[in-house]
Amino acid sequence: MKIVVIGGSGLIGTKLVGRLRASGHEVVAASPASGINTITGEGLAAALAGAQVVVDVANSPSFEDSAVLEFFRTSGRNLLAAEAAAGVAHHVALSVVGTDRLLESGYFRGKMAQEELIAASGRPYTILRSTQFFDFLGGIAQSATKPATKPATKPATRPEGQGMAVHLSSASIQPVVSDDVADAMADVTLGAPVNGIVELAGPETFRLDELVRRFLDATQDPRQVVADPQARYFGALLDDASLLPGPAPRLAPTRFGDWLAHARQPA
Ligand SMILES: NC(=O)c1ccc[n+]([C@@H]2O[C@H](COP(=O)([O-])OP(=O)(O)OC[C@H]3O[C@@H](n4cnc5c(N)ncnc54)[C@H](OP(=O)(O)O)[C@@H]3O)[C@@H](O)[C@H]2O)c1
Repeated sequence: MKIVVIGGSGLIGTKLVGRLRASGHEVVAASPASGINTITGEGLAAALAGAQVVVDVANSPSFEDSAVLEFFRTSGRNLLAAEAAAGVAHHVALSVVGTDRLLESGYFRGKMAQEELIAASGRPYTILRSTQFFDFLGGIAQSATKPATKPATKPATRPEGQGMAVHLSSASIQPVVSDDVADAMADVTLGAPVNGIVELAGPETFRLDELVRRFLDATQDPRQVVADPQARYFGALLDDASLLPGPAPRLAPTRFGDWLAHARQPA
């Protein structure tokens, strides 16, 4: 079967393309770098010709509030229209567990707009909502980093990251490794459309601040993690359930400690 993976050069896209090709499918890894752009429409009709399934694992190049909303709206509209013209039988998209509870965040308003366009399109679809990737913990730490105090000495005399603190909520989180997300995406891609949402989460629950502290300690990052109930997660205040899946998610196998031990080994 012919499958087009939009965002096929990204973190999940690369892994997904490999899995689908290994299963014997004809896969187009689509991204601006390969001349297929869902914002401008460049290369889209030609890429989709004869495709049975389109998988959208693209992400906005900017996380600025209005840019991310514009990205997911424009990309979603262009892609769904091109799929209707090409007669694509299944649209699969990757979204985030809790998207509808995180709408104080510009990023999640963008993801919500993407999901709403899909559901309203009348096209057969499956949305896989995943929890946060282990691989994204560095990005979460970065987004929550602030100066710890006013530096008394010249910052240049300190190792990088010292004098900075990461402010995070202690909300529960059930993260997952990107390889397990790619496995679940491959499974959903090759299955029938559910015309709804499937949730995916890792096998263990942590406190967000503790998880990031463990990650930074393991990577010898000197930043302190400060537990702060008012700290916002990409603009959204969290309660204990904000990032958790519902009662019956698919559970991915890989445990955080096993991934961390592997990730710490020199390349
Ligand atoms: N991070 C998390 O914890 C998490 C959790 C749940 C769900 N998700 C979702 O997972 C999805 C994939 O994330 P990721 O980390 O794999 O993304 P990523 O590594 O940042 O890759 C983004 C991909 O989007 C492509 N892209 C950007 N602009 C495009 C355009 N105009 N047309 C077509 N493709 C375009 C990029 O292509 P180029 O390489 O050519 O620029 C790249 O292939 C996102 O939608 C995100 O919301 C993430």
